[in-house]
Amino acid sequence: MTAPAPDPSSTVAIELGDRRYDILIGSGLIDASSSWSGLPRSSTALIVTNDVVAPLYLERLKRQLESHYARIETVVLPDGEQHKDWASLDMVIDHLLAVAADRKTVLFALGGGVIGDITGFAAAIYMRGVPFVQVPTTLLAQVDSSVGGKTAINHPRGKNMVGAFYQPARVIADLDTLDSLPERELSAGLAEIIKYGPIADVPFLAWIEDNLDAILARDKSALAYAVKRSCEIKAWVVGQDEREAGLRAILNFGHTFGHAIETGLGYGAWLHGEGVGCGMVLAAELSARLGLMPASFVDRMARLIERARLPVKAPAMPIDRWLDLMRVDKKNEGGEIRFVVIEGLGKAGMRGAPDALVAEVIAVHTEAESR
Ligand code: NAD
Ligand code: GLY
Repeated sequence: MTAPAPDPSSTVAIELGDRRYDILIGSGLIDASSSWSGLPRSSTALIVTNDVVAPLYLERLKRQLESHYARIETVVLPDGEQHKDWASLDMVIDHLLAVAADRKTVLFALGGGVIGDITGFAAAIYMRGVPFVQVPTTLLAQVDSSVGGKTAINHPRGKNMVGAFYQPARVIADLDTLDSLPERELSAGLAEIIKYGPIADVPFLAWIEDNLDAILARDKSALAYAVKRSCEIKAWVVGQDEREAGLRAILNFGHTFGHAIETGLGYGAWLHGEGVGCGMVLAAELSARLGLMPASFVDRMARLIERARLPVKAPAMPIDRWLDLMRVDKKNEGGEIRFVVIEGLGKAGMRGAPDALVAEVIAVHTEAESR
């Protein structure tokens, strides 16, 4: 299945019937009053952010929301993947209860994927559901996590294992926020952009290869196209399979291995995008060893991921640990680990694989000195 052709406008719609919503993409969106009009009405807004993003963007967001909401509350969470947990979720819920927020209260997630996932989950469960808006400020969040309604916190035994499908009312992706993003985080976002090529859009894969240096240099038009095209592909997938009955799992290309790295090393040691980048090399290798793709595909993916300044070698972990970690994955069925594989450029599928083959795949791509 090939993704639909690109659309030149700067808004992407997620078509989900009466829960449809827009993703606004562009420069200057936080300071544009039009970004914030037409959202659900309420007396109270609660902005959830963290201690890194708050000093950068919180006051500007508050200023915009002041003309729409009589009371603006804020919760500033500690930064980091290790805080995508029950304690942070509880801080949000506790604040909502402490200020007697009613069921019309609108939550705003200002930050990267961690803030978006926690805020979305809080919105899903507070009084059985209140509206929320995603204001993604990392490349990863703009191209993936803010879109599509997956919300979650991590459990020490498994990533994103506690959560809900719950769609935002709008996504406002201001490309200017990427100016302050550390380089390592920009690369992490690139992993999720790269993913869309081999699973759904061969011309986009070639475009990324041609424009990678421009993205790394934060060229605004390259970033705008990368964010837009990524959101279009995600919208196309989510529009067909919101709750991951089948197709949506292709968005997890590289994630089975990547989540094992993140959980195995402790949340925050490797960034999510770093795990996904390395995980895509392993998943490409698995696709080749299952006879679905030529070896040259593994080289092509590894070259691109390395150029994106992402790790291509897995960390050393005993194979039993890898397998135990990968057994705690939402895609698994009947105890079998299921991997997203590439079955032809632009086409992804799901397969199981013998443990011995998985062990070979990991061994080939693990740092020699650390094995
Ligand atoms: P993150 O939220 O931890 O943000 C990365 C870092 O950048 C943090 O330190 C953050 O404080 C900082 N930051 C954010 N915006 C900034 C800015 N504009 N300038 C400077 N610093 C800024 O990580 P992430 O990569 O955005 O998201 C990763 C998370 O997203 C993971 O938990 C992953 O599981 C989740 N995720 C969810 C989905 C989904 O569909 N819900 C999809 C992909 C990933
Ligand atoms: N990031 C995977 C998904 O949204 O399904």
